Amino acid sequence: MLHKSLKPFPEEFLWGASTSAYQVEGANLEDGKGPSCQDVKKVPEGTSELDVCADQYHRYKEDIALMAEMGFKVYRFSISWSRILPKGTGEVNPKGIEYYNNVINECLKYDIIPLVTMFHFDMPAALDERGSWSNPESVDWFLEFAKTMFENYGDRVKYWLTINEQNMLTLVGPVIGTLCIPEGCTNVLKETYQQNHHMLVAQAKAMALCHEMLPEAKIGPAPNIALIYPASNKPEDQLAAQNMNAVRNWLYLDMAVYGKYNNLVWSYLEEHDATPEFHEGDAEALANGHPDFIGFNYYSTGTVEASDGTEEGGGDQQNSRGVAGLAKNIKNPNLMKTEFGWEIDPIGFRATLREVYSRYRLPIVITENGLGAYDKLEEDGSVHDPYRITYLREHIKQMQLAITDGVEMMGYCPWSAIDLISTHEGMKKRYGFIYVDRDEFDLKTLNRFRKDSFFWYKKVIASNGEDLSD
Ligand code: BG6
Repeated sequence: MLHKSLKPFPEEFLWGASTSAYQVEGANLEDGKGPSCQDVKKVPEGTSELDVCADQYHRYKEDIALMAEMGFKVYRFSISWSRILPKGTGEVNPKGIEYYNNVINECLKYDIIPLVTMFHFDMPAALDERGSWSNPESVDWFLEFAKTMFENYGDRVKYWLTINEQNMLTLVGPVIGTLCIPEGCTNVLKETYQQNHHMLVAQAKAMALCHEMLPEAKIGPAPNIALIYPASNKPEDQLAAQNMNAVRNWLYLDMAVYGKYNNLVWSYLEEHDATPEFHEGDAEALANGHPDFIGFNYYSTGTVEASDGTEEGGGDQQNSRGVAGLAKNIKNPNLMKTEFGWEIDPIGFRATLREVYSRYRLPIVITENGLGAYDKLEEDGSVHDPYRITYLREHIKQMQLAITDGVEMMGYCPWSAIDLISTHEGMKKRYGFIYVDRDEFDLKTLNRFRKDSFFWYKKVIASNGEDLSD
Protein backbone atom coordinates (compact mmCIF):
# COMPACT_ATOMS: atom_id res chain seq x y z
CA MET A 1 0.00 0.00 0.00
CA LEU A 2 1.42 3.38 -0.96
CA HIS A 3 0.53 6.04 1.58
CA LYS A 4 0.21 9.76 0.86
CA SER A 5 1.26 10.64 4.40
CA LEU A 6 2.52 8.74 7.40
CA LYS A 7 0.76 8.45 10.73
CA PRO A 8 2.98 9.47 13.65
CA PHE A 9 4.00 7.14 16.45
CA PRO A 10 1.42 7.25 19.25
CA GLU A 11 2.15 9.87 21.91
CA GLU A 12 2.65 7.32 24.68
CA PHE A 13 4.74 5.02 22.49
CA LEU A 14 7.09 2.91 24.60
CA TRP A 15 10.62 3.31 23.26
CA GLY A 16 13.21 1.24 25.08
CA ALA A 17 15.28 -1.90 24.73
CA SER A 18 15.64 -5.41 26.12
CA THR A 19 17.98 -7.76 27.95
CA SER A 20 17.63 -11.12 29.66
CA ALA A 21 18.89 -12.10 33.10
CA TYR A 22 21.16 -15.01 32.20
CA GLN A 23 22.81 -13.09 29.34
CA VAL A 24 23.47 -9.80 31.12
CA GLU A 25 23.55 -10.15 34.90
CA GLY A 26 26.48 -12.44 35.71
CA ALA A 27 26.80 -13.15 39.46
CA ASN A 28 25.33 -16.47 38.45
CA LEU A 29 25.87 -18.19 41.78
CA GLU A 30 26.06 -15.15 44.03
CA ASP A 31 23.85 -14.06 46.93
CA GLY A 32 21.97 -17.32 47.11
CA LYS A 33 21.12 -17.72 43.42
CA GLY A 34 20.72 -21.35 42.38
CA PRO A 35 22.15 -22.54 39.07
CA SER A 36 19.93 -22.49 36.01
CA CYS A 37 20.15 -24.76 32.98
CA GLN A 38 22.39 -22.09 31.43
CA ASP A 39 24.91 -22.40 34.27
CA VAL A 40 25.27 -26.14 33.97
CA LYS A 41 25.23 -26.48 30.18
CA LYS A 42 28.39 -26.96 28.14
CA VAL A 43 28.84 -23.67 26.31
CA PRO A 44 29.67 -23.89 22.59
CA GLU A 45 33.40 -24.07 21.95
CA GLY A 46 35.09 -20.68 21.74
CA THR A 47 32.36 -18.86 23.66
CA SER A 48 32.34 -17.44 27.16
CA GLU A 49 30.78 -19.04 30.22
CA LEU A 50 27.72 -17.21 31.55
CA ASP A 51 29.12 -16.42 34.98
CA VAL A 52 30.04 -12.74 34.54
CA CYS A 53 28.30 -11.66 31.33
CA ALA A 54 28.00 -7.84 31.40
CA ASP A 55 28.11 -7.88 35.22
CA GLN A 56 24.82 -6.02 35.38
CA TYR A 57 24.11 -7.52 38.79
CA HIS A 58 26.76 -5.20 40.21
CA ARG A 59 26.28 -2.33 37.78
CA TYR A 60 22.53 -2.03 37.28
CA LYS A 61 22.50 1.54 38.58
CA GLU A 62 25.01 2.69 36.01
CA ASP A 63 23.21 0.76 33.25
CA ILE A 64 19.79 2.14 34.06
CA ALA A 65 21.23 5.66 34.32
CA LEU A 66 22.58 5.22 30.77
CA MET A 67 19.18 3.98 29.59
CA ALA A 68 17.62 7.05 31.19
CA GLU A 69 20.15 9.20 29.38
CA MET A 70 18.96 7.67 26.11
CA GLY A 71 15.42 8.61 27.14
CA PHE A 72 14.03 5.10 27.58
CA LYS A 73 10.33 4.96 28.39
CA VAL A 74 10.52 1.24 29.04
CA TYR A 75 13.15 -1.36 29.92
CA ARG A 76 12.42 -4.98 29.15
CA PHE A 77 14.39 -7.33 31.38
CA SER A 78 13.80 -10.82 32.71
CA ILE A 79 13.70 -12.16 36.23
CA SER A 80 15.93 -15.13 36.89
CA TRP A 81 13.75 -17.88 38.32
CA SER A 82 16.61 -19.47 40.28
CA ARG A 83 17.67 -16.13 41.78
CA ILE A 84 14.22 -15.87 43.35
CA LEU A 85 13.63 -19.57 44.03
CA PRO A 86 17.08 -21.21 44.03
CA LYS A 87 15.61 -24.70 43.73
CA GLY A 88 12.79 -23.59 41.47
CA THR A 89 10.12 -24.15 44.12
CA GLY A 90 9.92 -23.76 47.89
CA GLU A 91 12.39 -21.53 49.65
CA VAL A 92 12.53 -17.92 48.46
CA ASN A 93 15.89 -16.14 48.30
CA PRO A 94 15.48 -12.72 49.99
CA LYS A 95 18.58 -11.35 48.26
CA GLY A 96 17.08 -12.26 44.91
CA ILE A 97 13.82 -10.51 45.76
CA GLU A 98 15.81 -7.49 46.87
CA TYR A 99 17.85 -7.35 43.68
CA TYR A 100 14.82 -7.06 41.41
CA ASN A 101 13.19 -4.61 43.83
CA ASN A 102 16.28 -2.47 43.36
CA VAL A 103 16.21 -2.80 39.58
CA ILE A 104 12.50 -1.95 39.41
CA ASN A 105 12.88 1.01 41.77
CA GLU A 106 15.86 2.28 39.85
CA CYS A 107 13.82 2.22 36.62
CA LEU A 108 10.91 4.02 38.27
CA LYS A 109 13.27 6.67 39.63
CA TYR A 110 13.79 7.72 35.98
CA ASP A 111 10.16 7.12 34.92
CA ILE A 112 11.22 4.05 32.98
CA ILE A 113 8.42 1.48 32.88
CA PRO A 114 9.64 -2.02 33.77
CA LEU A 115 8.47 -4.63 31.25
CA VAL A 116 9.25 -7.92 32.93
CA THR A 117 9.79 -11.22 31.14
CA MET A 118 8.96 -14.01 33.54
CA PHE A 119 10.98 -16.72 31.84
CA HIS A 120 13.82 -16.25 29.39
CA PHE A 121 15.60 -19.54 28.64
CA ASP A 122 16.75 -20.15 32.23
CA MET A 123 15.02 -23.09 33.88
CA PRO A 124 16.39 -23.69 37.39
CA ALA A 125 18.82 -26.61 37.21
CA ALA A 126 17.06 -28.21 40.18
CA LEU A 127 13.89 -28.41 38.09
CA ASP A 128 15.76 -29.77 35.10
CA GLU A 129 16.71 -32.63 37.39
CA ARG A 130 13.00 -33.19 38.04
CA GLY A 131 12.23 -33.41 34.34
CA SER A 132 11.91 -29.73 33.45
CA TRP A 133 8.90 -28.99 31.21
CA SER A 134 8.36 -32.68 30.53
CA ASN A 135 7.05 -33.05 34.07
CA PRO A 136 3.33 -32.10 34.22
CA GLU A 137 4.12 -30.49 37.59
CA SER A 138 6.11 -27.85 35.71
CA VAL A 139 2.84 -25.95 35.25
CA ASP A 140 2.50 -25.59 39.03
CA TRP A 141 6.18 -24.75 39.44
CA PHE A 142 5.80 -21.91 36.99
CA LEU A 143 2.66 -20.66 38.71
CA GLU A 144 4.43 -20.63 42.06
CA PHE A 145 7.19 -18.53 40.51
CA ALA A 146 4.60 -16.26 38.85
CA LYS A 147 2.73 -15.79 42.13
CA THR A 148 5.96 -14.92 43.94
CA MET A 149 6.73 -12.27 41.32
CA PHE A 150 3.20 -10.84 41.32
CA GLU A 151 3.20 -10.64 45.13
CA ASN A 152 6.57 -8.98 45.37
CA TYR A 153 6.59 -6.71 42.33
CA GLY A 154 2.98 -6.37 41.23
CA ASP A 155 2.55 -3.06 43.04
CA ARG A 156 5.07 -1.50 40.62
CA VAL A 157 5.28 -3.75 37.55
CA LYS A 158 2.30 -3.15 35.27
CA TYR A 159 3.54 -4.94 32.15
CA TRP A 160 4.47 -8.63 32.08
CA LEU A 161 5.63 -11.04 29.41
CA THR A 162 5.21 -14.76 29.98
CA ILE A 163 7.72 -17.01 28.17
CA ASN A 164 10.38 -15.66 25.86
CA GLU A 165 10.45 -17.41 22.48
CA GLN A 166 8.61 -20.54 23.47
CA ASN A 167 8.61 -21.41 19.78
CA MET A 168 12.41 -21.39 19.70
CA LEU A 169 12.57 -23.51 22.86
CA THR A 170 10.47 -26.03 21.01
CA LEU A 171 12.07 -25.81 17.57
CA VAL A 172 15.76 -25.25 18.42
CA GLY A 173 15.95 -25.79 22.20
CA PRO A 174 19.30 -27.60 22.24
CA VAL A 175 21.11 -24.76 20.46
CA ILE A 176 20.10 -22.28 23.16
CA GLY A 177 20.84 -24.66 26.00
CA THR A 178 17.33 -25.66 26.93
CA LEU A 179 14.96 -28.56 26.29
CA CYS A 180 15.93 -31.72 28.06
CA ILE A 181 14.74 -34.91 26.45
CA PRO A 182 14.58 -37.78 28.95
CA GLU A 183 16.98 -40.62 28.27
CA GLY A 184 15.51 -43.49 26.31
CA CYS A 185 12.74 -41.35 24.80
CA THR A 186 11.47 -43.11 21.67
CA ASN A 187 9.30 -40.34 20.22
CA VAL A 188 11.25 -37.09 20.53
CA LEU A 189 8.63 -35.11 18.61
CA LYS A 190 5.87 -36.20 20.97
CA GLU A 191 8.04 -35.46 23.99
CA THR A 192 8.94 -32.02 22.61
CA TYR A 193 5.32 -31.09 21.97
CA GLN A 194 4.27 -32.43 25.35
CA GLN A 195 6.74 -30.04 26.94
CA ASN A 196 5.45 -27.32 24.67
CA HIS A 197 1.92 -28.12 25.82
CA HIS A 198 2.93 -27.76 29.47
CA MET A 199 4.43 -24.38 28.69
CA LEU A 200 1.25 -23.31 26.90
CA VAL A 201 -0.88 -24.32 29.87
CA ALA A 202 1.56 -22.64 32.28
CA GLN A 203 1.38 -19.47 30.22
CA ALA A 204 -2.43 -19.48 30.10
CA LYS A 205 -2.67 -20.03 33.85
CA ALA A 206 -0.10 -17.30 34.53
CA MET A 207 -2.09 -14.83 32.41
CA ALA A 208 -5.27 -15.70 34.33
CA LEU A 209 -3.46 -15.42 37.66
CA CYS A 210 -2.03 -12.05 36.70
CA HIS A 211 -5.51 -10.74 35.90
CA GLU A 212 -6.86 -12.12 39.16
CA MET A 213 -4.07 -10.81 41.41
CA LEU A 214 -3.23 -7.60 39.53
CA PRO A 215 -6.35 -6.32 37.78
CA GLU A 216 -4.53 -3.19 36.60
CA ALA A 217 -1.63 -5.05 35.04
CA LYS A 218 -1.25 -6.17 31.44
CA ILE A 219 0.34 -9.40 30.28
CA GLY A 220 1.22 -10.98 26.95
CA PRO A 221 3.33 -13.69 25.28
CA ALA A 222 6.75 -13.06 23.66
CA PRO A 223 7.41 -15.57 20.87
CA ASN A 224 9.81 -15.01 17.97
CA ILE A 225 7.53 -14.24 15.04
CA ALA A 226 8.75 -14.01 11.47
CA LEU A 227 6.60 -14.24 8.41
CA ILE A 228 7.56 -17.15 6.17
CA TYR A 229 7.56 -16.47 2.43
CA PRO A 230 7.00 -19.07 -0.30
CA ALA A 231 10.12 -19.38 -2.45
CA SER A 232 8.06 -19.01 -5.64
CA ASN A 233 4.48 -18.76 -6.84
CA LYS A 234 4.32 -22.54 -7.21
CA PRO A 235 1.21 -23.63 -5.30
CA GLU A 236 3.31 -26.27 -3.51
CA ASP A 237 5.59 -23.58 -2.14
CA GLN A 238 2.61 -21.59 -0.90
CA LEU A 239 1.39 -24.64 1.02
CA ALA A 240 4.88 -25.09 2.46
CA ALA A 241 4.88 -21.45 3.63
CA GLN A 242 1.50 -21.99 5.29
CA ASN A 243 2.86 -25.08 7.03
CA MET A 244 5.94 -23.30 8.29
CA ASN A 245 4.00 -20.24 9.40
CA ALA A 246 1.71 -22.53 11.37
CA VAL A 247 4.42 -24.55 13.07
CA ARG A 248 6.75 -21.61 13.74
CA ASN A 249 4.36 -18.73 14.38
CA TRP A 250 0.62 -19.27 14.58
CA LEU A 251 0.62 -22.28 16.90
CA TYR A 252 1.92 -20.02 19.66
CA LEU A 253 -0.25 -16.99 19.05
CA ASP A 254 -3.42 -18.96 18.24
CA MET A 255 -3.01 -20.70 21.56
CA ALA A 256 -2.19 -17.55 23.55
CA VAL A 257 -5.10 -15.61 22.07
CA TYR A 258 -7.78 -18.21 21.24
CA GLY A 259 -6.75 -21.09 23.51
CA LYS A 260 -6.86 -23.50 20.55
CA TYR A 261 -4.29 -25.61 18.76
CA ASN A 262 -3.59 -24.54 15.21
CA ASN A 263 -5.28 -27.13 12.98
CA LEU A 264 -2.32 -27.62 10.60
CA VAL A 265 0.06 -28.25 13.48
CA TRP A 266 -2.39 -30.59 15.16
CA SER A 267 -2.70 -32.68 11.97
CA TYR A 268 1.07 -32.78 11.61
CA LEU A 269 1.38 -34.04 15.21
CA GLU A 270 -1.36 -36.61 14.62
CA GLU A 271 0.55 -37.92 11.61
CA HIS A 272 3.58 -38.51 13.84
CA ASP A 273 1.75 -39.91 16.79
CA ALA A 274 2.92 -36.83 18.63
CA THR A 275 -0.19 -35.03 19.86
CA PRO A 276 0.25 -33.90 23.45
CA GLU A 277 -1.74 -35.43 26.25
CA PHE A 278 -4.25 -33.07 27.87
CA HIS A 279 -4.34 -33.35 31.65
CA GLU A 280 -7.51 -32.63 33.58
CA GLY A 281 -8.39 -28.94 33.39
CA ASP A 282 -5.93 -28.12 30.58
CA ALA A 283 -8.57 -27.30 27.97
CA GLU A 284 -10.35 -24.90 30.38
CA ALA A 285 -7.06 -23.32 31.43
CA LEU A 286 -6.08 -22.74 27.80
CA ALA A 287 -9.46 -21.20 27.05
CA ASN A 288 -9.30 -18.95 30.12
CA GLY A 289 -5.93 -17.30 29.63
CA HIS A 290 -6.14 -14.09 27.62
CA PRO A 291 -3.31 -11.74 26.72
CA ASP A 292 -3.83 -7.96 26.81
CA PHE A 293 -1.27 -7.38 24.08
CA ILE A 294 1.11 -9.34 21.91
CA GLY A 295 4.82 -9.05 22.44
CA PHE A 296 7.04 -10.55 19.81
CA ASN A 297 10.69 -10.67 18.81
CA TYR A 298 11.47 -10.05 15.17
CA TYR A 299 14.84 -10.49 13.49
CA SER A 300 14.07 -11.57 9.93
CA THR A 301 11.66 -13.47 7.73
CA GLY A 302 12.15 -17.00 6.44
CA THR A 303 11.66 -18.50 3.00
CA VAL A 304 10.62 -22.04 2.19
CA GLU A 305 9.81 -24.36 -0.65
CA ALA A 306 7.92 -27.61 -0.71
CA SER A 307 9.37 -30.32 1.49
CA ASP A 308 10.88 -33.40 -0.09
CA GLY A 309 10.44 -35.18 3.22
CA THR A 310 14.13 -35.35 4.09
CA GLU A 311 14.76 -32.06 5.92
CA GLU A 312 16.61 -32.61 9.13
CA GLY A 313 15.51 -29.73 11.35
CA GLY A 314 17.98 -27.92 13.57
CA GLY A 315 19.66 -24.59 12.83
CA ASP A 316 19.15 -21.63 15.13
CA GLN A 317 16.48 -19.00 15.75
CA GLN A 318 16.75 -17.53 12.25
CA ASN A 319 18.57 -20.19 10.27
CA SER A 320 16.18 -23.10 10.39
CA ARG A 321 16.68 -26.00 8.02
CA GLY A 322 13.00 -26.75 7.69
CA VAL A 323 10.74 -29.49 8.96
CA ALA A 324 10.49 -32.81 7.16
CA GLY A 325 7.13 -33.17 5.51
CA LEU A 326 6.23 -29.52 6.07
CA ALA A 327 8.74 -27.21 4.41
CA LYS A 328 12.33 -26.86 3.29
CA ASN A 329 14.09 -23.68 4.32
CA ILE A 330 16.02 -21.84 1.63
CA LYS A 331 18.05 -18.63 1.49
CA ASN A 332 16.30 -15.55 0.20
CA PRO A 333 18.47 -14.08 -2.59
CA ASN A 334 16.78 -10.69 -2.22
CA LEU A 335 18.08 -10.08 1.27
CA MET A 336 21.38 -8.97 2.76
CA LYS A 337 22.85 -10.80 5.74
CA THR A 338 24.46 -9.80 9.02
CA GLU A 339 28.06 -10.77 9.72
CA PHE A 340 26.61 -13.75 11.54
CA GLY A 341 24.57 -14.91 8.59
CA TRP A 342 21.09 -13.79 9.66
CA GLU A 343 19.06 -12.30 6.83
CA ILE A 344 17.95 -8.66 7.13
CA ASP A 345 14.40 -7.86 6.07
CA PRO A 346 12.86 -4.59 7.29
CA ILE A 347 9.98 -4.79 4.79
CA GLY A 348 9.29 -8.27 6.13
CA PHE A 349 8.93 -6.60 9.53
CA ARG A 350 6.06 -4.49 8.20
CA ALA A 351 4.53 -7.56 6.57
CA THR A 352 4.83 -9.52 9.82
CA LEU A 353 3.25 -6.71 11.85
CA ARG A 354 0.36 -6.46 9.40
CA GLU A 355 -0.23 -10.20 9.48
CA VAL A 356 -0.06 -10.52 13.26
CA TYR A 357 -2.40 -7.58 13.81
CA SER A 358 -4.96 -8.70 11.26
CA ARG A 359 -5.03 -12.20 12.79
CA TYR A 360 -5.25 -11.20 16.45
CA ARG A 361 -6.32 -7.54 16.71
CA LEU A 362 -4.33 -6.86 19.87
CA PRO A 363 -1.84 -4.04 20.42
CA ILE A 364 1.74 -5.05 19.68
CA VAL A 365 4.98 -4.39 21.49
CA ILE A 366 8.18 -5.44 19.78
CA THR A 367 10.22 -7.14 22.46
CA GLU A 368 13.37 -7.73 20.38
CA ASN A 369 14.80 -6.61 17.05
CA GLY A 370 18.43 -5.93 16.32
CA LEU A 371 21.72 -6.68 14.69
CA GLY A 372 24.52 -8.83 16.10
CA ALA A 373 27.93 -7.58 14.95
CA TYR A 374 31.63 -7.40 15.78
CA ASP A 375 31.94 -3.90 17.31
CA LYS A 376 35.25 -2.21 17.97
CA LEU A 377 36.09 0.07 20.86
CA GLU A 378 38.33 2.91 19.61
CA GLU A 379 41.10 4.39 21.71
CA ASP A 380 39.05 7.51 22.44
CA GLY A 381 36.19 5.40 23.84
CA SER A 382 33.95 5.72 20.78
CA VAL A 383 32.31 2.80 18.97
CA HIS A 384 31.25 3.37 15.38
CA ASP A 385 28.33 1.10 14.52
CA PRO A 386 26.67 2.63 11.42
CA TYR A 387 25.47 -0.85 10.36
CA ARG A 388 23.34 -1.06 13.55
CA ILE A 389 21.90 2.42 12.98
CA THR A 390 20.99 1.49 9.42
CA TYR A 391 19.37 -1.76 10.54
CA LEU A 392 17.30 -0.10 13.25
CA ARG A 393 16.40 2.92 11.13
CA GLU A 394 15.02 0.75 8.34
CA HIS A 395 12.96 -1.30 10.81
CA ILE A 396 11.59 1.80 12.54
CA LYS A 397 10.58 3.22 9.14
CA GLN A 398 8.71 0.03 8.36
CA MET A 399 7.07 0.08 11.79
CA GLN A 400 5.73 3.55 11.04
CA LEU A 401 4.41 2.30 7.70
CA ALA A 402 2.71 -0.54 9.57
CA ILE A 403 1.15 2.00 11.95
CA THR A 404 -0.06 3.86 8.88
CA ASP A 405 -1.49 0.56 7.62
CA GLY A 406 -3.62 0.50 10.77
CA VAL A 407 -1.52 -1.71 13.04
CA GLU A 408 -1.88 -0.77 16.70
CA MET A 409 1.65 -0.46 18.12
CA MET A 410 2.46 0.00 21.80
CA GLY A 411 6.21 0.01 21.86
CA TYR A 412 9.57 -0.99 20.48
CA CYS A 413 12.34 -2.66 22.50
CA PRO A 414 15.31 -3.57 20.32
CA TRP A 415 17.81 -6.20 21.37
CA SER A 416 19.72 -5.19 23.28
CA ALA A 417 20.01 -2.27 25.68
CA ILE A 418 23.62 -3.19 26.43
CA ASP A 419 26.12 -5.74 25.12
CA LEU A 420 25.56 -9.20 26.56
CA ILE A 421 26.37 -12.80 25.77
CA SER A 422 24.59 -14.22 22.76
CA THR A 423 22.61 -17.45 23.13
CA HIS A 424 25.23 -19.55 21.33
CA GLU A 425 27.72 -17.20 19.66
CA GLY A 426 29.37 -15.63 22.67
CA MET A 427 30.34 -12.09 23.60
CA LYS A 428 31.82 -11.27 20.23
CA LYS A 429 28.31 -11.06 18.75
CA ARG A 430 27.27 -7.70 20.16
CA TYR A 431 23.84 -6.11 19.98
CA GLY A 432 23.85 -3.25 22.51
CA PHE A 433 23.62 0.54 22.36
CA ILE A 434 26.08 0.45 25.26
CA TYR A 435 29.44 -1.21 24.72
CA VAL A 436 30.83 -3.39 27.52
CA ASP A 437 34.60 -3.50 27.71
CA ARG A 438 35.31 -7.19 27.80
CA ASP A 439 36.20 -9.88 25.31
CA GLU A 440 35.13 -13.45 24.98
CA PHE A 441 37.50 -14.65 27.73
CA ASP A 442 39.30 -11.52 28.94
CA LEU A 443 37.04 -9.63 31.34
CA LYS A 444 39.07 -6.39 31.01
CA THR A 445 37.47 -3.41 32.84
CA LEU A 446 33.80 -4.18 32.12
CA ASN A 447 33.39 -0.41 31.78
CA ARG A 448 30.54 0.99 29.73
CA PHE A 449 30.92 3.11 26.57
CA ARG A 450 28.29 4.87 24.48
CA LYS A 451 28.21 3.60 20.88
CA ASP A 452 27.23 5.91 17.99
CA SER A 453 23.87 4.10 17.98
CA PHE A 454 23.38 5.27 21.60
CA PHE A 455 23.38 8.94 20.53
CA TRP A 456 21.30 8.18 17.47
CA TYR A 457 18.62 6.27 19.42
CA LYS A 458 18.48 9.07 21.99
CA LYS A 459 17.50 11.46 19.17
CA VAL A 460 14.97 9.00 17.80
CA ILE A 461 13.28 8.73 21.20
CA ALA A 462 13.38 12.48 21.86
CA SER A 463 11.63 13.12 18.54
CA ASN A 464 9.17 10.22 19.07
CA GLY A 465 10.47 8.49 15.96
CA GLU A 466 10.45 11.53 13.66
CA ASP A 467 14.16 12.16 13.47
CA LEU A 468 15.89 9.06 12.11
CA SER A 469 18.81 10.97 10.59
CA ASP A 470 22.46 10.29 11.46
C1 BG6 B 1 16.46 -14.17 20.71
C2 BG6 B 1 16.59 -14.34 22.20
O1 BG6 B 1 16.38 -15.43 20.15
O2 BG6 B 1 17.49 -13.58 20.01
C3 BG6 B 1 17.75 -13.64 22.86
O3 BG6 B 1 15.39 -14.04 22.86
C4 BG6 B 1 18.93 -13.69 21.91
O4 BG6 B 1 18.00 -14.25 24.09
C5 BG6 B 1 18.58 -12.93 20.66
O5 BG6 B 1 20.13 -13.24 22.47
C6 BG6 B 1 19.71 -12.88 19.66
O6 BG6 B 1 20.12 -14.18 19.36
P1 BG6 B 1 21.61 -14.67 19.50
O7 BG6 B 1 21.57 -16.12 19.25
O8 BG6 B 1 22.37 -13.89 18.49
O9 BG6 B 1 22.01 -14.32 20.89
